[in-house]
Amino acid sequence: MAATDLERFSNEEKRSLSLGGHVGFDSLPDQLVSKSVTQGFSFNILCVGETGIGKSTLMNTLFNTTFETEEASHYESAVRLRPRTYDLQESNVHLKLTIVDAVGFGDQINKDERPIVEYIDTQFENYLQEELKIRRSLFNYHDTRIHVCLYFITPTGHSLKSLDLVTMKKLDSKVNIIPIIAKADTISKSELHKFKIKIMSELVSNGVQIYQFPTDDEAVAEINSVMNAHLPFAVVGSTEEVKVGNKLVRARQYPWGVVQVENESHCDFVKLREMLIRVNMEDLREQTHTRHYELYRRCKLEEMGFKDTDPDSQPFSLQETYETKRKEFLGELQRKEEEMRQMFVNKVKETEAELKEKERELHEKFEHLKRIHQEEKRKVEEKRRELEEEMNMFNRRKVAVETLQSHSLQATSQQPLKKDKDKKN
Ligand code: GTP
Ligand code: MG
Repeated sequence: MAATDLERFSNEEKRSLSLGGHVGFDSLPDQLVSKSVTQGFSFNILCVGETGIGKSTLMNTLFNTTFETEEASHYESAVRLRPRTYDLQESNVHLKLTIVDAVGFGDQINKDERPIVEYIDTQFENYLQEELKIRRSLFNYHDTRIHVCLYFITPTGHSLKSLDLVTMKKLDSKVNIIPIIAKADTISKSELHKFKIKIMSELVSNGVQIYQFPTDDEAVAEINSVMNAHLPFAVVGSTEEVKVGNKLVRARQYPWGVVQVENESHCDFVKLREMLIRVNMEDLREQTHTRHYELYRRCKLEEMGFKDTDPDSQPFSLQETYETKRKEFLGELQRKEEEMRQMFVNKVKETEAELKEKERELHEKFEHLKRIHQEEKRKVEEKRRELEEEMNMFNRRKVAVETLQSHSLQATSQQPLKKDKDKKN
């Protein structure tokens, strides 16, 4: 086909045709449903809120079961993310539910939201790595990307804490945030109304984007737009059952009355369950993939040097990018190598100079000691000579004295003889 024919063909309007009889592709939606049901679904909830705010209780109440829980200590050294995955089944639908607790968040010691952001990014990164593999297995890949973040607000009745605003701001481009006022039974109805308005105005004035229930699908547009006006939901959680009339209902019992979890005039629990699980679970999953993950993927790929078009608006070449990145990398490697070599040479030079200096010092020390030694030796020699002289003198004197003594002895022994001779004569 010539190029002009191709152009004309692709520019042509699509024509609608009517079918002569039943063909069968109207079963496509059913095929899709059946495939999804076989495959099962995964849904990942991140619970962020201070220790003891009621996260575990609300999860148990929402899914009407008892998940494993262990109370967090108020003295964690840092915020730690604790994911737990459960297989749930309702009718023939399997749900792989992961609940991630941000343990230690909002406590006195460490209020940092960074571990939460890192956790969310790591899940995106894992998915991206799977997508980039040559042999991908996205079909049975356990998707751990966070679909919704339930942000538990402390029911102070006052205003949001700066920690809440900072954290939500950091998270809003990465995850669908649904803010909820926890333990709403601890705040009066009029205070709650004012608190809700205050929270929403604070979120707006700080530019925090929370998840909006979608209104583009006609089937749910009305309920979703009504529910959007009720945000943040004020919830009460309880796994206790209390008899009201002749029915057992989940509630919290107080000396002055009973707060029923599923009574819409008592709290917004039912609204939350309706919006989170029954109406918008699929939209939350979709938004995670098409908005938040897409943003992460785009930034990450751009960071890696990928582009849709090159600077001349020509389609982007993977080979060229790879080559450019490779060259950049090799250049960087060479530069680092040269830097390290230079550093090594400098170090060797420095050490050499240090050694030389040490050698010179030692030599000087040696010479000094040698001089001292020679001086000492000379002094000892002198002393020895003096002593020897003294000894010689002494010996000479001794000999002289001895001679003198022997002479005088001889003289005295000869004198009596002479006397005797004289007498005889
Ligand atoms: P950590 O996991 O230790 O951070 O706590 P948590 O946020 O999971 O709180 P948890 O559900 O363990 O509840 C803590 C306490 O708050 C328990 O005594 C609950 O009974 C109570 N609690 C939970 N939900 C509510 C609520 O809606 N209202 C009131 N008044 N108390 C609640
Ligand atoms: Mg808990």
